[in-house]
Amino acid sequence: MPIPKAELHLHIEGTLEPELAFALAARNGVTLPYADTEALRKAYLFEDLQSFLNLYYELMAVLRTERDFEDLANAYLARAAAQGVRHAEIFFDPQAHIARGVDMGTVVEGLWRALGDSGTNHGISTRLIMCFLRDESADSAMETLEAAKPYLHRITGIGLDSAEVGHPPVKFREVYEAAAALGLRRVAHAGEEGPPAYITEALDVLGVERVDHGLRCVEDAELVARLVRDRIPLTLCPLSNVRLRAVDVLAEHPLPAMLDAGLLCTVNSDDPAYFGGYVGDNFDAVRSALGLSEDRLRELARNSFVASFLEDDEELRARYLAEVEAYEFS
Ligand code: HPA
Ligand code: ZN
Repeated sequence: MPIPKAELHLHIEGTLEPELAFALAARNGVTLPYADTEALRKAYLFEDLQSFLNLYYELMAVLRTERDFEDLANAYLARAAAQGVRHAEIFFDPQAHIARGVDMGTVVEGLWRALGDSGTNHGISTRLIMCFLRDESADSAMETLEAAKPYLHRITGIGLDSAEVGHPPVKFREVYEAAAALGLRRVAHAGEEGPPAYITEALDVLGVERVDHGLRCVEDAELVARLVRDRIPLTLCPLSNVRLRAVDVLAEHPLPAMLDAGLLCTVNSDDPAYFGGYVGDNFDAVRSALGLSEDRLRELARNSFVASFLEDDEELRARYLAEVEAYEFS
């Protein structure tokens, strides 16, 4: 049994496996520009974030109905449960669906058909985090927040994703202020491909409580000191970093140095269908490539629950943390 963990950086659309993509395409009468799953898998050679995003948005064409989103989420939850996930804070990208004529209600209620029963069906507690696409306009983000208002009882927080460079956090100041006033938690992708200054800006201007990726903080010693002092969690995604070439090879990933520096790091899968593994696979990969000790792996699992948005259920968090401490490595 893998160590119990929370997953805090997971795009539900990035869990769309080729087999499910073709099944949904057939169900919805959508034609994909790939002959079969094998041909599709051959397209999974990425040069950078944008080359991945192009395929990620293209395949979303198969997601049309509530049932599609339900099936997608159930497939993820089943795989996550098998890898020790006990709690998942799941991103979704409503603008990418609304642009295709699939409305907010279809996405949220479809996902909720799976998430509402995830404790019973998969042994996983869940939260939803709505992401804004940073390469779309600030007005579009504000319209998206407006469209989400009937569904806020299902949504814990907001995030910011898609193409980072050239779209600094400050562009989204107003929508983050509006979301905070609605009681939503705030995270943002920063420092994946973008510079460390984007991380600082996400903290100062957007008031984020957790930074997604944050990898490039290591280039700014003052920023690292601040993240350590303020216990700001980073949701790292090691296999994603290799596939999108943020690091050359896993053995050179800065995770060990980041843990040594006292950063509150977590390990996550990002878009597991595309990047070669779910969160347990990411744990296994860093364990072998970086030689992490059992103490370090337990620290990563502990951090995942500490960094989670379980302030609304501290009893549950305490139970998960006790499971981590009691875990015996085999
Ligand atoms: N980075 C930015 N945007 C994304 C990602 C990512 O890794 N995955 C899905 N959208
Ligand atoms: Zn991401």
